[in-house]
Amino acid sequence: MIRLTPKSVRVRLTLWHIAVMLAVLGVYAAGVYTFVRNNSLSLLDERLHDDFDWASDMLAQRPDGTIAPYEETGEGDSPWLQVWSLEGRLLYDTPEARRNPVPRPAQLAESAKEVDRVVTVPDVSPPYRVMSGGARIGGRPVLVQVARSEGPLAQNLNQLIYILFLGLPGAVAISGLGGYLLARRALAPIGRMSERARSINAERLNDRLPVDNPDDELGRLATVFNDTLTRLESSFEQMRRFTADASHELRTPLTAIRSVGEVGLRGKRDETAYREIIGSMLEEVDRLALLVDRLLMLSRGDTGRANLSMDVVDIPELAKEVAEQLSVLAEEKGQSVQVRCDAVPRWFGDRMVLRQAMLNLVDNAIKYTPDGGAIEVRVTQTSASMTIDVIDSGPGIAPELQTRIFDRFYRVDKSRSRENGGTGLGLAIAKWAVEVNGGLLTLVPAVSGSCFRITLPQTVPNEVTGVCSGAL
Ligand SMILES: Nc1ncnc2c1ncn2[C@@H]1O[C@H](COP(=O)(O)OP(=O)(O)O)[C@@H](O)[C@H]1O
Ligand SMILES: [Mg+2]
Repeated sequence: MIRLTPKSVRVRLTLWHIAVMLAVLGVYAAGVYTFVRNNSLSLLDERLHDDFDWASDMLAQRPDGTIAPYEETGEGDSPWLQVWSLEGRLLYDTPEARRNPVPRPAQLAESAKEVDRVVTVPDVSPPYRVMSGGARIGGRPVLVQVARSEGPLAQNLNQLIYILFLGLPGAVAISGLGGYLLARRALAPIGRMSERARSINAERLNDRLPVDNPDDELGRLATVFNDTLTRLESSFEQMRRFTADASHELRTPLTAIRSVGEVGLRGKRDETAYREIIGSMLEEVDRLALLVDRLLMLSRGDTGRANLSMDVVDIPELAKEVAEQLSVLAEEKGQSVQVRCDAVPRWFGDRMVLRQAMLNLVDNAIKYTPDGGAIEVRVTQTSASMTIDVIDSGPGIAPELQTRIFDRFYRVDKSRSRENGGTGLGLAIAKWAVEVNGGLLTLVPAVSGSCFRITLPQTVPNEVTGVCSGAL
């Protein structure tokens, strides 16, 4: 089925405007017509009553039994008047009544015996309105009929119809034009906005839509659109930076592999030297693999494709497992790793993802704390949440860098981090891993060293079964 809906909102609005205007004016015209018609008819009837009263007063019975007015009226202003005997004999009529005979006056007179009646006689043109009623003239009961033509009334009403219904299309046309101009004016900013929006692309994301009045509907739409553009611009910028950083990071181990290989090929070497060269090439390959793994993890997180599982996690047990896994690194640096738990909280969430976050934090603590330092993982529980603090006795983080360290590839000391096998993605991954589990990763201000805090919402009722403490 073809739908005849105009594409342009402007035209649709104008058509609606015209339709509503037509309906309103139509109802208004019908109302005015009915009011004027009823008014004119009752006015006519009033005059008929006056005529009737005048006729009853003016007529007299002559000595010969005929009926006639006291004094003859002039030809011009003679009203329409007939007088009948009760037997149905015409006793008197005026010249006007003779000129415009009304059909069936006898019957009309008959029907008027009981009540004074006013009826329209439509058989003549123009129709007549007749009033019949009983009266006494000189003591003799008779029937008096007076009538008036509806001609002037019909003429007035026709003129009214003419004015109303001729004026209606004109009024509708004017209001339609007004509606069209109004719609055009109201919708003009949308045209400008869509023109501007069309020109905005990935290269021109800093462009914004014009906001004429931020408080009206269109202004609000433009503001919302501009906010979306701002967010898009910042995520485009982030993506661009991430791609640039990622390619740079990937290039470094590749360049290292290449130069180690090139050096190896220069001149002849013994087996041990070749083994060493291959060993360092494999080290770089490991770095590359680690980097690619982390990038993949982040990109899965970005696209929301990380399928999270719902495990019952024994947090102290997980903390111990993480500390144990990294204890070799700590031992190498003569550091102590303590796990302290106020309670044995259980938590619902993805164990592997939370483990990754804790691993990254404890790994950082070990890496950035000088030899012989102390690291502590402290699990605390409150009624609403649970916190896992990773505290170290290292150099801490300058306040101005406290938000930046969570950025991808951001490292305070690039060369030092690289020496430690860092990629600059550890904290970004940890933050994602905690947040995706409904928690929060923050850097808590500390007098010395640094303290990273994972806050997790409490998902199951507290289950305090004891206190654990252990050193690794
Ligand atoms: N416990 C810490 N103490 C001091 N500095 C830290 C600590 N954890 C992270 N940092 C700083 O934050 C930077 C980002 O950390 P991260 O994202 O894990 O990257 P990296 O791969 O370098 O470890 C590190 O390069 C380091 O400068
Ligand atoms: Mg790290």
